[in-house]
Amino acid sequence: MLLLLAHQLSFLTDGKSILLSERQAQNGMLQETQTPLTPGTGYTASAESLALRTRGLTKRYGQRLAVADLSLEVRRGEIFGFLGPNGAGKTTTIRMLLGLITPTAGSIEIFGQDLRRRASSVLPRVGALIETPALYLYMSGRDNLRAVAASLGGVSERRIDEVLDLVGLRSRQKDRVKTYSLGMKQRLGVALALLHDPELLILDEPANGLDPAGIVEMRDLLHTLAAQGKTIFVSSHLLSEVQQICTRVGIIRLGRLVTEASVEELTRGRGEFVVRVERPQEALHLVRSQPWGVSARLNERGELVSPAPGGRGRELNRFLVEAGLIPELLTPATLDLEQVFLQLTGDDLAHGR
Ligand SMILES: Nc1ncnc2c1ncn2[C@@H]1O[C@H](COP(=O)(O)OP(=O)(O)O)[C@@H](O)[C@H]1O
Ligand SMILES: [Mg+2]
Repeated sequence: MLLLLAHQLSFLTDGKSILLSERQAQNGMLQETQTPLTPGTGYTASAESLALRTRGLTKRYGQRLAVADLSLEVRRGEIFGFLGPNGAGKTTTIRMLLGLITPTAGSIEIFGQDLRRRASSVLPRVGALIETPALYLYMSGRDNLRAVAASLGGVSERRIDEVLDLVGLRSRQKDRVKTYSLGMKQRLGVALALLHDPELLILDEPANGLDPAGIVEMRDLLHTLAAQGKTIFVSSHLLSEVQQICTRVGIIRLGRLVTEASVEELTRGRGEFVVRVERPQEALHLVRSQPWGVSARLNERGELVSPAPGGRGRELNRFLVEAGLIPELLTPATLDLEQVFLQLTGDDLAHGR
């Protein structure tokens, strides 16, 4: 059982063959996942409403902190977007979530059970795709599924039909994988992760490198899976890929969680206005000296971004006019998720501003 589990994870993650991962498992590379099962421990009913919880999760490679004090909660049934630029620590986090590497500190609970102590009962409820899937290019899509099904045991031909239907590859199942588009390969990777019907699906940048059509297909697939009640944890460095599908997002930068919120919360207007005005520095200084205007700033185009007295643009306009600074243009500021992402992960933070 433990060996089979190791099979499955390695097969989907290391880009090499089953035989290699079998050797790895025998060499004990996945030892930390091989905790004996002790029924009745490490389980609380209330925590069951969460699919995933990390607390203080930390991974250090020598001097480098790849993941630092990460506390995340993913609720059952949601599509959670795990966003961050390249190198932010997404893959490292996901490897810890799957028991593939040991955290330096912190804890992971999956469906309320501690991963370290209960890996062998928890991990079968998880399906994963890390970076690009390991596929046998000279075999058909179906035979790739059969190979993994054989290593898992207990997966019927009917289940293979089901996952092929789910990922939209039924009509191409007999073709060699080397003839597949990148999008089809990624979807086959998701199919492999789905074979044992996991409740939680962890996908590391599944849309990475896909063309726009492939991205739409992947998005549709995730919607379908969520509609079937799966919990999905999906990472990306591109917000546009996930903003239409995720209910909530966690944004990570330099290994640290910058924010965890619903997409709606992140993009909600903050009652600010963008004002194009002559002498913006002077306007900024003046506005900032007002009790309502302390958070005012200039944007990258040199426009004043400011709250308004009583939240009313008209009042901000009047205030500026009375100060002899006549606005050329005054509009409510709106944020799209892309801007939020840039603000949270960009230079502003790097410089502690
Ligand atoms: N095995 C490793 N040894 C040393 N440093 C690593 C290792 N894996 C990842 N890192 C470093 O940890 C940081 C996070 O990497 P990673 O988790 O791959 O980021 P992401 O998936 O968000 O692009 C990077 O600085 C990376 O160079
Ligand atoms: Mg990565």
